[in-house]
Amino acid sequence: MAQILRTKSVEQSIQDTEAPEHRLRRRLSAVDLTVFGIGVIVGTGIFVLTGRVARETAGPAVALSFVVAAIVCGLAALCYAEFASTIPVAGSAYTFSFATLGEFPAWIIGWDLMLEMALAGAVVAVGWSGYFTSLLSTAGIVLPDVGVNYPAMLIVAILTGILVAGIKLSSRVNLAIVVIKVTVILLVIIAGLFFIRVANYSPFIPPPRGTPAVEGMRAPLIQVLFDITPVAYGYIGIFSAAAIVFFAFIGFDIVATAAEETIEPQRDLPRGIIGSLAICTLLYVAVSLVVVGMQPYSQLSQDAPLADAFTAVGQPWIAGLISIGAIAGLTTVVMILMLGQTRVLFAMCRDGLLPRRLAKVHPRFGTPATITLIVGFATMILSGFISLGELAELVNIGTLFAFVVVSAGVVILRRTRPDLPRAFRAPLVPWLPLASVLACLYLMLNLPVATWWRFLLWMVVGVLIYFLYGFRHSTVRGFRADSPKIQDS
Ligand code: ALA
Repeated sequence: MAQILRTKSVEQSIQDTEAPEHRLRRRLSAVDLTVFGIGVIVGTGIFVLTGRVARETAGPAVALSFVVAAIVCGLAALCYAEFASTIPVAGSAYTFSFATLGEFPAWIIGWDLMLEMALAGAVVAVGWSGYFTSLLSTAGIVLPDVGVNYPAMLIVAILTGILVAGIKLSSRVNLAIVVIKVTVILLVIIAGLFFIRVANYSPFIPPPRGTPAVEGMRAPLIQVLFDITPVAYGYIGIFSAAAIVFFAFIGFDIVATAAEETIEPQRDLPRGIIGSLAICTLLYVAVSLVVVGMQPYSQLSQDAPLADAFTAVGQPWIAGLISIGAIAGLTTVVMILMLGQTRVLFAMCRDGLLPRRLAKVHPRFGTPATITLIVGFATMILSGFISLGELAELVNIGTLFAFVVVSAGVVILRRTRPDLPRAFRAPLVPWLPLASVLACLYLMLNLPVATWWRFLLWMVVGVLIYFLYGFRHSTVRGFRADSPKIQDS
């Protein structure tokens, strides 16, 4: 028991990053981080899921679902920011929980983050491929269907190359694409205003009713637990929808994984995290209000709702521009999700929970090249063979679970290590982290029963790997979280 709860001290975490062969270069500022955040946050969630969710789960009230999801993320973001500013090393929630809760919980979180990022990267690559294929077909080019999603695989392969070559190159590419993406979103909002028909807003919250989207294993767990005949729409539907559009906010936490590469992590990380989250919330609420005003919610398209809403009102050229922006935007999302994934995996290998020899930094590029290639390959295979649909929900449950642990970790670290300097302190501790834990759990309960089963299966596999490999190979010789003095060795 003592061993699986051994913690890696904060000092040791920071020290590890100083070893030359494992050191990542520091070169990102707060603005870089915000751009990096928007680069990964705005993606399939707003470009693809908005339509599906408005149609199937919430109606025009999807805008409120975005607000609900944003509030949950905001609470978690404050906790994340405190952690990130205290422990500025690679690995995000994984590293934070290693310093607070112990090795086993940290492994669980790291394993969980893999679910978040590897799967989300593949899901967004599939979304990218959808827009890409549709744009080509508008131009009269029809790609042959060979049963494998090769456009998605190709984009993942290209991005892997960029990541191996070095973060500076990729953040420049990222900046250009973020500008295009935000411009396109603003175009949707401003141009869309001219095509709003007020009638489309009523009813704003359609009356609740049973639909195929909530049948059987697709029913939200909370409705099953409370013995409600599963329904979509209505007030209850706003929350089921929030649990799905939560996907649109995923990524702000990944900003924290770049801590080790940030020039002044203590000041810049909280700014980057909270700044990018705030900007995205404004954009999402505005976009969803405009889109559900342009078309009756039941007619929104499932695959490219933002572009298709403009086609529906007779503006195909605006639709084309939006598609191009979406393709560009989704590219950075895939790239940064993969980047986040490499950094978490890097930290886990460095700690010996996974093979340590993988955590080598390339002498010329200064990037964890081997790990990047492994992540790239895995994402490529996943994106070639999976379909988008329910995987987003699996990503959400994994991410929300990580947020629960991070929020609890803030409270624990305040008690076990009150001495540590915190450049950013979350307000109202322990109440705010507690609210964050409850809010995340509540959203998790709003996810379908099937998603819960898949999540549990993934976690069981993770536990087995830990006890068969990580437990014995861990390089950490720490002490239990509750031991009076945590020592470095
Ligand atoms: N938040 C990201 C997206 O919407 C993952 O695609």
